[in-house]
Amino acid sequence: MRQPLVAGNWKMNGSMDSVKTLAEGIKAGIDTVTTAEMAVCPPYVYIPQVASMLAGSAISYGAQDVNDQEAGAYTGEVAPGMLADIGCKYAIVGHSERRSIYGESDEFTASKFAAARKAGLIPILCVGELLEEREQGITEQVVARQLDAVINLEGIEAFGGAVIAYEPVWAIGTGKTATTDQAQEVHAFIRGKLAALDAAVADKVQILYGGSMNPGNAEQLLAMPDIDGGLIGGASLKPDDFLAIGKAANA
Ligand code: 13P
Repeated sequence: MRQPLVAGNWKMNGSMDSVKTLAEGIKAGIDTVTTAEMAVCPPYVYIPQVASMLAGSAISYGAQDVNDQEAGAYTGEVAPGMLADIGCKYAIVGHSERRSIYGESDEFTASKFAAARKAGLIPILCVGELLEEREQGITEQVVARQLDAVINLEGIEAFGGAVIAYEPVWAIGTGKTATTDQAQEVHAFIRGKLAALDAAVADKVQILYGGSMNPGNAEQLLAMPDIDGGLIGGASLKPDDFLAIGKAANA
């Protein structure tokens, strides 16, 4: 049985004050979430502040991205070892905003995935198709290509220590959620693809859904057999909504 994971991707939002209010709000209500693991991914600069506020709670934290190098002359970048050093459990890699706005390739994403694992972090690998790719009927090919980049570099076993997030790009920040059937179909495809290489790894890996998940649709999505949690953007900035999504996973 896979434990549900509900992770908040705060993206480039917040201030010292708002981050404090948000973390306090989540911490205050965490006991109502009995089944899911809850995690937050603040902007890099606020991670230590959030970490100290969450100390002693069951809430995990991670980063929204990571570089693939260990150290050195990479101005503006953050190494996986640094994230591990400040207690991060997770690092998101390959978010569609990194891929589309900053042109990050499947190969670079796979390299980040590998570097994160090497540093002891759990990568949350984001995959997902653009609207035009769905309309062309190539969703599975796109997702397969994104997964293959990691499988080719790291081998299937690497998914034993990783999380996958299926985020259809057309559903991110648009209020347009994939239907439960659309999401389940791709989640099952992902698990099936991994199972063809290693059934035990496929059975274990958590596959999160991301894209306008909110308290109104979370329960239905989380009830699907291959949806093991959520990667939440907008709704993770509101403690009550984020906690409600976590509670939707309560057994
Ligand atoms: P929204 O929940 O705001 O659609 O964002 C999803 C997302 O990109 C999480 O990584």
